[in-house]
Amino acid sequence: MKKIKDANDFKMIATTTLGLEEVLTTELLRLGAKNIEQHNRAVSFYGDEGFMYKANLCLRTAIRVLKPITSGKAQNEHELYDLIDSISWDKFLSLNQTLAVTAALNTEYFNHNQYVAQKCKDAIVDQFRSKTGSRPSVDRENPDFGLYIYIFNDEVNIMLDSSGIPLYKRGYRMDTNLAPLNECLAAGLILLSGWDGRLPLYDPMCGSGTILIEAALIAANIPPGYFRQSYCFMNWPDFDQELFDKIYDNVISKINNNKPILLGTDISPHVLKKAKENAASANVNEMITFQKADFLETNFGEEKKYTIIMNPPYGERMNKDDIKVLYKTIGDTLKHKYKGSSAWIISSSVEGFKSVGLKTSRKISLYNGGLPCKYNKYEMY
Ligand SMILES: C[S@@+](CC[C@H](N)C(=O)[O-])C[C@H]1O[C@@H](n2cnc3c(N)ncnc32)[C@H](O)[C@@H]1O
Repeated sequence: MKKIKDANDFKMIATTTLGLEEVLTTELLRLGAKNIEQHNRAVSFYGDEGFMYKANLCLRTAIRVLKPITSGKAQNEHELYDLIDSISWDKFLSLNQTLAVTAALNTEYFNHNQYVAQKCKDAIVDQFRSKTGSRPSVDRENPDFGLYIYIFNDEVNIMLDSSGIPLYKRGYRMDTNLAPLNECLAAGLILLSGWDGRLPLYDPMCGSGTILIEAALIAANIPPGYFRQSYCFMNWPDFDQELFDKIYDNVISKINNNKPILLGTDISPHVLKKAKENAASANVNEMITFQKADFLETNFGEEKKYTIIMNPPYGERMNKDDIKVLYKTIGDTLKHKYKGSSAWIISSSVEGFKSVGLKTSRKISLYNGGLPCKYNKYEMY
């Protein structure tokens, strides 16, 4: 049901990755967003200033929370430049603040999002230069002020990026040279599985531990923004520190002591060491048991029924036969040693999925980085 908007409410858009729109919608509903509408890789909603702070702090599957400021038409770079230049940017940022522009395109008029972002950035810095003789500098990694441009046909939507550093960069993960899942996707996999935060959860090939750490945060109601020091909205002229502190304290007061069984195994001790460091950095190491094991030789399922979520190797560096054998053995292990558990596998390997040999009870299309993947569910009766 649509809730009634208040006078202080404004439209916001939370972006996400393909396939997570539905779980993001559910998250927004639970948080109390109004007039929610699901789009492709985004969900729009209404709320007030405080709700924008809360959305940034609490949404597990959002990448950014955007606040539209205006829109206009442009069919070429000159019209785009003029449109951006028609806005007085000194209302939004000052000379000593750093700036980043991100662009997303769904249009025939423009081809390259980087080029569009650069044109918009040029229009802003040129405006400062002509007014003051100086210009703000660019910081793509950690800007004080983020602008997000979305072009649909010839309609240019100009939005403030209230988040800045993408929300999947929670801040608990140490540098790793592995290929971990991003934190939004890991949280999305858990929410899509319908795991209730209480039953035992097992990631048999846990790598750097992202799924288990996100599961611990969900179980204990720790907001994903707990580790983060700053958001771009904190640099906006109307930022209300007192309101933010109130909302932050309220969110933190809901952290609980819930400690479900969370088990992670991996065949590589080096990778497990990273997983333990990451869990310690997120302060959830006491909630997770990590153990070195070859999943194909485990039988933890004899003691307990688990929700199993796994992200096995996709086989980019393996030959076809090896990948078939790996996925077939995963299927056999699940079937014989994990009766009564349910398993979810995310992978881009079509060959691999064909070899699992278990009946798929749900199939969801997702993207991991740029890779199209399936997220399949198997029930082991
Ligand atoms: C794609 S990575 C998982 C990444 C992980 N989701 C993360 O966020 O870091 C696959 C992992 O499977 C592990 N692995 C491969 N074969 C295994 C096996 N037979 N038993 C347990 N782990 C295995 C690898 O060591 C690797 O860490």
